[in-house]
Amino acid sequence: MEERGRGLRLYGRQVGHGGLRPSHKSAFERIYPALRLDDTGPCLDISDIGETVWLEIGFGSGEHLLWQAEQNLDVQMIGVEPFQTGVAKCLLGCAARGLDNVRLCAGDGRSFVERFPDESVDRVFVLHPDPWPKWRHAKRRLIQPQFLNSLSRILRPGGELRIGTDWPDYSCWALRHLLVHPAFEWRAKTAQDWQGRPQDWPETRYAVKAKKEGRRDVHLSFVRRAR
Ligand SMILES: C[S@@+](CC[C@H](N)C(=O)[O-])C[C@H]1O[C@@H](n2cnc3c(N)ncnc32)[C@H](O)[C@@H]1O
Repeated sequence: MEERGRGLRLYGRQVGHGGLRPSHKSAFERIYPALRLDDTGPCLDISDIGETVWLEIGFGSGEHLLWQAEQNLDVQMIGVEPFQTGVAKCLLGCAARGLDNVRLCAGDGRSFVERFPDESVDRVFVLHPDPWPKWRHAKRRLIQPQFLNSLSRILRPGGELRIGTDWPDYSCWALRHLLVHPAFEWRAKTAQDWQGRPQDWPETRYAVKAKKEGRRDVHLSFVRRAR
């Protein structure tokens, strides 16, 4: 689907085969209006939603997002995800847990981040982004120089960008782009710093599947340098 006016093309499904189930449709009707971040207009107003803001881009069904929201009730979790079935599952998860520190956008993370004010986010998560393993599809990967520029703009100095992947080629790709980006610093000193799973970084189904298939999960954490 083409994002109007931006020339951004979304790859991957936005709705599962057979469309949304009635329970998912109902989640959009009942729960989404209260959690939805206004997704119109050039600028997001997040001035009144909380002091500490974490953003997860491509949250899938929201496993990690819901865990973080539950563990960090003083943090405002924002999530953006184009796959509507995933958004519906996350909406149901928020309601089941009674969370009121979550706001969601069913849309494309790349145009969404452009609408955030400068230095308004403390932490960004990009977990198991679609690997697009064929070289000719590499331009479809979420991590691209332009996207990193947007993340560096919205992150507060000292803020953190977390990228998790189980595709060796993707971790090399991410490092290749991040290590030359002037705004980000990778502070890992030993292999344990990126091979080990931090306690506050729960597994999603992709990490579990990767383990079963013999792939190792990589946890990359970058600090937004001072300006
Ligand atoms: C492999 S899944 C991982 C989901 C989740 N992060 C996890 O670890 O369970 C990749 C996710 O990225 C989402 N995605 C793909 N393109 C995106 C984009 N442009 N903006 C935001 N999310 C995107 C997909 O819809 C999918 O849910």
